[in-house]
Amino acid sequence: MPLWRYGVLGLCALMMALAQSGPPLRELAERRGILVGAAVEPSLLLQEAAYGPVLAREFNLVVAENVMKWGALQTSRGQFNFAAADLLVNFAQKHKQVIRGHTLVWHQQLPRWMYGSFSRSEMEAILSQHIRTVVGRYKGQIAYWDVVNEAIGDDARLRATPFDVLPDYIERAFRLAREADPKAKLFYNDYGAEGLGPKSDAIYSLLKSLKEKGVPIDGIGFQAHLDLGFSPQQARMAENLERFARLGLEIHITEMDVRLTGPGTKAERLQAQARLYQEILQICLRQPRCKVFTLWGVSDAHSWRAASEPLIFDVDYQPKPAYFALQRTLQQP
Ligand code: XIL
Repeated sequence: MPLWRYGVLGLCALMMALAQSGPPLRELAERRGILVGAAVEPSLLLQEAAYGPVLAREFNLVVAENVMKWGALQTSRGQFNFAAADLLVNFAQKHKQVIRGHTLVWHQQLPRWMYGSFSRSEMEAILSQHIRTVVGRYKGQIAYWDVVNEAIGDDARLRATPFDVLPDYIERAFRLAREADPKAKLFYNDYGAEGLGPKSDAIYSLLKSLKEKGVPIDGIGFQAHLDLGFSPQQARMAENLERFARLGLEIHITEMDVRLTGPGTKAERLQAQARLYQEILQICLRQPRCKVFTLWGVSDAHSWRAASEPLIFDVDYQPKPAYFALQRTLQQP
């Protein structure tokens, strides 16, 4: 553990070093008309000295990595616990950061009680109570909600979930969210759909049909959990984004990280990682409807894929080549 993690002096040294490493990403992003975000674990705001200052300096958007998931908010049926989510919202407001809410309907990180057997009308009541309570609590404070997350499986079909007893749960969730906060923009979010392919086709058809039915959906989130083998050009990512844009949807990159595993020296892999961050940001900047570019965490120390060093700050919160690549890309005309 490096010394600075503990002391005020160490923290000052880090912030001074960051100040010398160029303008904060959020400042540059603002000039380009986009938001640059990070997923946040509010407990780290209390536990780790460097976490809050770096988050506040670099990012103008935050998203809850876990604390707004169903299992975190409604551990027992009908009982809501907003303490950690509130901490995040307060931090964001203090630091003038836009908030993405994540996520209202997902097949993972559900509380155990959700796996009970429920009738259609019980599930209707459960879904509407959850969405009304959660979206209602933060009405006017959360700009974007991931309403439905990962509903399409890797086989390009709808996944089986506890919500299935309500066959129209997807559109119902969007309508409930719209009712609870008419100003929040509502998103469908998924992984493995960055490029053209069967999964992205299935999502495209789903969202197109929702739009045609008048379901209130405003955008699509591409998670972008990538590794060095991903080639945006080969996957025809720009083309893919463009077809969603033509549906009238706003586009967000919602959870980007890039695993550092693969051949080559560490230095080569760090360069390749930087290039991939740069390429995805460039695709976003060139797509007029792409408004948000979010990383799934701040430093490698706390990433959900920590072992593969996927983020732009290393475990000591030092900027990696990927950080400088984003900085440069945002500065390019
Ligand atoms: C992950 C979190 O980062 C982990 O801390 C947690 O243990 C599991 O979930 N897609 C999503 C995110 O939409 O919510 C997931 O977050 C990563 C994949």
